[in-house]
Amino acid sequence: MPLVTSKELLLAALEGHYAVGAFNANNMEQVQAIVDAAVEERAPVILQVSQGAIRYAGLDTVSNMVRTAAAEASVPAVLHLDHGPDFEQNVLCLRAGFTSLMFDGSKRPYEENVKITAKIVEMAHICGVPVEAELGKVLQSADGVTEEQVIAAMTDPVQAQDFVARTGCDSLAVAIGSVHAMANAEAELNIERLKALRAALDLPFVLHGSSGVKEESEVEAIQYGICKINVATMLNQAFVRGLVKAQAASPDNIDPRKWLTASRDAVKEVVRHKIRLFGSSGKVTASGFVSPPKTFRSAKLGSIE
Ligand code: G3H
Ligand code: ZN
Repeated sequence: MPLVTSKELLLAALEGHYAVGAFNANNMEQVQAIVDAAVEERAPVILQVSQGAIRYAGLDTVSNMVRTAAAEASVPAVLHLDHGPDFEQNVLCLRAGFTSLMFDGSKRPYEENVKITAKIVEMAHICGVPVEAELGKVLQSADGVTEEQVIAAMTDPVQAQDFVARTGCDSLAVAIGSVHAMANAEAELNIERLKALRAALDLPFVLHGSSGVKEESEVEAIQYGICKINVATMLNQAFVRGLVKAQAASPDNIDPRKWLTASRDAVKEVVRHKIRLFGSSGKVTASGFVSPPKTFRSAKLGSIE
């Protein structure tokens, strides 16, 4: 089916107390693994493209791969920009047909984050495309962060209320204790901070850095409005694991497709596991995707089919 926007999927998830998996795709095998798992699980799905993926594959190539795979799928899929760094990148992705944008102004001064986010929201909404914004900072494990730094970077509920009111963003990436690109799932989310954010705001929240978070903590966070969970590092780990294992089993092989099939299968099983964990398995029924009630839907921000 044609791509849908993240607006409709996330409002349905907020209403239904589950989360939609947002899986990072860097190459064809990852795109196929994500879509195949979603179809088999009858789950709505978000395929997202990072700056690294755009540099690696090229914007048109990666967006066309996702669009083609989604068109063949019988579940709703979204093409989302992950951590868009500026206004220009968001414009380029809108033109390339993305059905969900993100501006990450979290490392900029607050007023600058507000200003650029609001400008992107205004532009994207004209085209019926929703925007995710970020407030507070989800730090990078490669920077060797301390617990104190993670706590200090968490999203402030009062500031978040001001931010959402002034920008009109459709979903908010919140910093509640996760760190990007951790090799193991060891972190626990700060559920008290998440509850305070939920008490202040009623839009969908997004969890970044999920590969480093304990699964029981992810499940608990879904109950307090985490509606989109980003998964990247785990998929890359699975991809490499599959490749190394296949290479060891047939070291004389010269056909890369043989090894890459093992990578694709390994990624698919991680995606399947996460879809089940997030509660989005089975949300696409024979009669179609269960959409949120009409009261939740903006005239402009419905499906852009
Ligand atoms: O934006 C993407 C993510 O936040 C993924 O984080 O690499 O820790 O899974 P992760
Ligand atoms: Zn992220």
